[in-house]
Amino acid sequence: MRVKRISPEAESQSPEQDIDTSLMDPLIQKFRGKKGNLIPLLQGVQEIYGYIPRQAFVKLNQKTGLELNELYGVATFYAQFRLTPAGKHIIKMCHGTACHVQNVTDITDQLIDYLNVKDGETTTDQLFTLETVACLGCCSLAPVMMIGEETYGKLSPKAALKVIKEIKRNEVKKDQGQ
Ligand code: FES
Repeated sequence: MRVKRISPEAESQSPEQDIDTSLMDPLIQKFRGKKGNLIPLLQGVQEIYGYIPRQAFVKLNQKTGLELNELYGVATFYAQFRLTPAGKHIIKMCHGTACHVQNVTDITDQLIDYLNVKDGETTTDQLFTLETVACLGCCSLAPVMMIGEETYGKLSPKAALKVIKEIKRNEVKKDQGQ
């Protein structure tokens, strides 16, 4: 059988960084051996790192005895769990009914094109993660997107793009120390 090896070079290009797994120790201590601990453990890990790194699965498996395939199975089943690092700005596009009726998919498609990502992916510059989500709870503003704590309503594809471009411009300015 031929085993494909990942070169150190290729690994260093992976978006996943080395993580300090000792940060998980208090969490593991709190939930080890408790019934129904799998989801709280995954949620806790995501709270610590912003996503669930590969090394975290391994540590959970080693320290709690939970099976790796069970951990992966649950983490990939629920949309709340993220397996790759998120971008600096998470764009949540509401695809609830009210937003759907107001053509939010046109807006999402536009952003997908502009950012060159698929749903759930992060841009190569690590600035944006695009996610479609269920109702954001402000249907009267449909179609709605949320970026961080900011909610943008009554959007058009053009208006949404303008918001993204503005954020990008500000990030470039920050980088240039302006
Ligand atoms: S359906 Fe989009 S905010 Fe409710």
